[in-house]
Amino acid sequence: MRTQVAIIGAGPAGLLLGQLLHKNGIDNVILERQTADYVLSRIRAGVIEQVTMDLLDQAGVGARMHADGLVHDGVQICVDGIRHRLSFKELTGKTVMVYGQTEITKDLMDGRAAVGAPTVYSAHDVSLHDIFSDKPRVTYRSEGEPRELVCDFIAGCDGFHGVSRPSVPAGAITAYERVYPLGWLGILSDTPPVSEELIYVRHPRGFALCSMRTPTRSRYYIQCSVAEDIEAWPDQRFWDELKPRLDDEARGHLVTGASIEKSIAPLRSFVAAPMRFGRLFLAGDAAHIVPPTGAKGLNLAASDVQYLSRALVEHYADKSNAGLDHYSERALKRVWKAERFSWWMTMTLHRISDNPFDHQLQLAELDYLFRSKAAATAFAENYVGLPY
Ligand code: FAD
Ligand code: DHB
Repeated sequence: MRTQVAIIGAGPAGLLLGQLLHKNGIDNVILERQTADYVLSRIRAGVIEQVTMDLLDQAGVGARMHADGLVHDGVQICVDGIRHRLSFKELTGKTVMVYGQTEITKDLMDGRAAVGAPTVYSAHDVSLHDIFSDKPRVTYRSEGEPRELVCDFIAGCDGFHGVSRPSVPAGAITAYERVYPLGWLGILSDTPPVSEELIYVRHPRGFALCSMRTPTRSRYYIQCSVAEDIEAWPDQRFWDELKPRLDDEARGHLVTGASIEKSIAPLRSFVAAPMRFGRLFLAGDAAHIVPPTGAKGLNLAASDVQYLSRALVEHYADKSNAGLDHYSERALKRVWKAERFSWWMTMTLHRISDNPFDHQLQLAELDYLFRSKAAATAFAENYVGLPY
């Protein structure tokens, strides 16, 4: 088989790239290791920046998001039982959208099916070849048969545990990493959210987050140990641990119920640089990971895809390689700012250290955030998403 761009991975990065390329007349094939149902069953991100919304609109898949997504003008931060509100709208004129990654993935899959662009699900043993030549290839097995895809470019959109990044010669890549000694235990339940806005909670027992997917579906997270066994967390234990971390009003509004999903996510900061190796371009979690605090992971995947899709369109339509040559540098500039923000939110809101000095610094950071318009504006600018 031959295509212009071989895309590895049908997560948000791969699917969005495929859709934007297709819109611009560039052929692409997506190879995905899992089945479509499996990809759709992963509950992940929930908050979408304005620039990500714009990109989904450009890709022609924004209609359901605008109809069903929840526009949020601000966010609340609760520190030791006292809630503070930060208004994005007042501070930046912008808002964010609460719309689950599962729904975005579904919209992108439906959009791809509607235009008939090919996706190979359950593609096994995906392997990249000749990335430094002008005829790279991807081999894989599908339905037990060996296959080969010859292409002009490969987009490695296969997440943190994918095959693209490890295909690069070790000496060509630099990895920057910070692993946090904690995880997020998340629960999804068909119960109304405690508040109309998200509440990030800093509490001596540990961080908590009250989020949502719809007015009748809540998403809650609590900080847990990275070694935690999910089997040790029946629903009741989760609710019993969440409640004392909340303020009185939120606790009063909390409706508990059976979980429909429960999972533990480790917290990690990671950046691989550069993001281009010959004709291989990494995008999304394949190149970088942020701890979830601040909801930047999916949004960063989208901004990489914006730079990469424009660069590929320039290559084919304008015969210019300038965008491809600048891709890594441009994407990494935005990546590092989101890394900084996610690290800052993580370090400010979690119980990470037992050193009272660190606790006082967290309280000082937060007090400054609530009292200084400059600090609040800087926070809001980052939360709603920096411009591309
Ligand atoms: P992915 O979504 O990881 O997609 C990569 C795809 O590549 C997958 O479908 C995978 O099956 C496929 N793949 C992997 N290896 C291969 C291979 N060898 N061959 C073919 N295909 C392959 N972000 C937030 O903003 N908020 C959150 O609450 C949040 N929660 C998260 C919870 C978890 C458990 C994880 C792992 C991530 C979470 N994130 C969250 C991050 C966010 O979901 C990611 O940043 C986003 O999914 C990145 O999209 P992506 O397309 O780059 O990668
Ligand atoms: C959600 C996840 C986040 O990491 C975050 O900062 C906000 C919301 C969520 O899953 O709803």
